[in-house]
This record gives sequence, structure tokens and C-alpha cells, in this order.
Amino acid sequence: MAMGQPKMTDMQEPFDSRAFRNALGGFATGVTVVTACDPAGERVGLTVSSFNSVSLDPPLILWSLSKAARSMPAFRAASHYAVNVLAADQVELSQQFARPTEDKFAGVACHEGIGGAPLLDGCVSWFECRNAMTYEGGDHLIFVGEVERFGCEDRPALLFHAGQYGLATRHPETPAVAKPTVPSEGEKRPFVDDYLLYLLARASHQVSARFHARLAELGVSVPEWRVLATLSDSDGMTVSELAKIVLFKQPTLTRILDRMENDGLVERRASQGDRRKVLVHVTTDGGKTVARLKTVAKRHETEVLSDYGPGEAAVLKMVLRTLINRSADG
Ligand SMILES: Cc1cc2nc3c(=O)[nH]c(=O)nc-3n(C[C@H](O)[C@H](O)[C@H](O)COP(=O)(O)O)c2cc1C
Repeated sequence: MAMGQPKMTDMQEPFDSRAFRNALGGFATGVTVVTACDPAGERVGLTVSSFNSVSLDPPLILWSLSKAARSMPAFRAASHYAVNVLAADQVELSQQFARPTEDKFAGVACHEGIGGAPLLDGCVSWFECRNAMTYEGGDHLIFVGEVERFGCEDRPALLFHAGQYGLATRHPETPAVAKPTVPSEGEKRPFVDDYLLYLLARASHQVSARFHARLAELGVSVPEWRVLATLSDSDGMTVSELAKIVLFKQPTLTRILDRMENDGLVERRASQGDRRKVLVHVTTDGGKTVARLKTVAKRHETEVLSDYGPGEAAVLKMVLRTLINRSADG
């Protein structure tokens, strides 16, 4: 909804279900896939955002199922069901379980929980519930489950808000995070403090400074590190493929590669598939060097991200990866 005048809908008027949905969509939720196995051994599952906690003692949760859902008979009959809380990288799974397909579990990695209810791999948390109570709820049926077993992993969660998937990040104004850049009310944020290119450049500059100093101590240049790190996970790359990732123009990169080849860190060989194509590979010595450097790099990364939770760090990387993919060749 656009910012501006609040829109009020009175129930005396003809009921506007779209406005009602929109208003409900203002409440951000997580996304779950609720699964069960009916008495005949048939697995069912659907995407559900109506999940919520009810009671700590006894441990109860609830969710509501549309009376029109094909899985209704199975959920009514199942002794147990499982609520799988989806992680930030499981949008595909959410879509798959929201579509009325024949086999929703096709290609889905999962294992059996209590009562045969499927537990999906890679979720943030899961609750295995006894199908304890149901309540009438208009065109939905409210299921209350008694949690018999649950688990969780340290992963960022998938969110749903205003009809869209979202990611959770800690609010910068909460005390756990340093808040140097939030201007107080009425104060104008300086241009560069709110400009993407500046933020990216400054973050990159500040974050890389200490690592680059460490590389220098180890006698490795930044270009050498970039080349080795990129090649270490590949079966060989052409100079032009490599140039795109290491951010050097081809002539500069060629000079860097000449030097590295002299030092025995990389070698150029004709491709097996196409003898006219020359691929750059790391040598055994280059492999040993890069393995050592990666340990130093990961240690530095851990230091940089020490103020962030693992969920936030994963979200930060995901946002940057998306930005890189979307702006590629742009
Ligand atoms: C983000 C999201 C949340 C949803 N939440 C619910 C829900 O809480 N209850 C429900 O009955 N359907 C919900 N749905 C719709 C069902 O997932 C969808 O209708 C599903 O295909 C029903 O499966 P079935 O007909 O095989 O039972 C949601 C869909 C999405 C994308």
C-alpha cells in the first residue's frame, strides 16, 4: 500500500476481501511447510504462514487450513504433522508446496518424523506435533498441535510480508548493533551515507584493509590472491573468464599470470575438449599456497562478522550475491 492517508474499511459496507487480505498482509510472518502422512501412507504438505505459538506448558502451536485444501482429509485423519519453518534460501520449496501439483515431494530432500510426517532438509526449525485439537474458523479449520519433538538450526529465516517474500535483518536501531549512521529525527542523512555506490565502496575498502595488509606480510599481492582464490574452485578458466571475476583488464591479467607462472603458482594448458582454447590452472604448489591463504581469509572474515549473528551474515552475503547477479553485464 502506498504511504499516505490511512484507508478504513467498515464491515457495514459490502465486504472488500482484497482490502482485508492487504491489511492482513501488513503483518509479517515466517513461512512454513506443514506435512503429514495419512493413515493410507500418502504424504501431504502445503505452504502455511498462519503458524503461531499458543502455549509453552503444555507446548502447543496452531495453524489454519483452508477448507478447500485438497490435503484437508489427510490432515484431519493424520495422528501427527510436522511444521517445517523455511530458511531464507527455500523460496522454491515454498512455491512448490503452494502449487496444486500431484507430487509435491518430487525432488524434495526429506526424512520421516513422528507418525511418518516428512521433515524437510535445510529448514530453520521444525515442530513434530500430535494432531491434538481442531476448531472451526470460518472457511478455515484451526489445527492446534501438541509439540512432541522439535529442533532448530542456525540459519536465516524466510519471511512473508505484503504479498512478497522477504529476509530478516536485525533493525539497525536496536542496541545489539552499533548505530553510528542513524540520524536523529529532523536531521538529514548526508548524501554519501545513503548512496549505494559509496556504501559498497567504503564497506569494501574498510573490510579489505586488514586482510590486504596480512597478504602483504605473507608476500602475496592482492591480484595473486584473487587469481588463486578464483582458480582454486575451478577446473581451469580462460583468461577472459578469469578477468571478469578478478576485476582486471585482460592485458593486466596476462602480465600477472606471466609472473605467477614463473613463480610456479599457475600454468596454462590447452583445454582437453577444445585444443585451441587455453585454460589457466593452479599448480600443486599454487594449490598449497591458496589453501593456506583461504584459512587466513576465513579467519579474517570471522573477525569482520563477529558482531553479526550467523543469520545476518548469511543474509548480507545473499543480498550481495543477488546484487552481483542482477547487475552482471549491466
Ligand atoms: C506464503 C504462503 C502462505 C500460505 N499460507 C496458507 C495457510 O496458512 N493456510 C492455508 O490453508 N493455505 C495457505 N497457503 C496456500 C496453500 O499453500 C496452497 O493453497 C496449497 O496449494 C494448498 O495445498 P493442497 O490443496 O494440496 O492442500 C499459503 C500459500 C503461500 C504462498
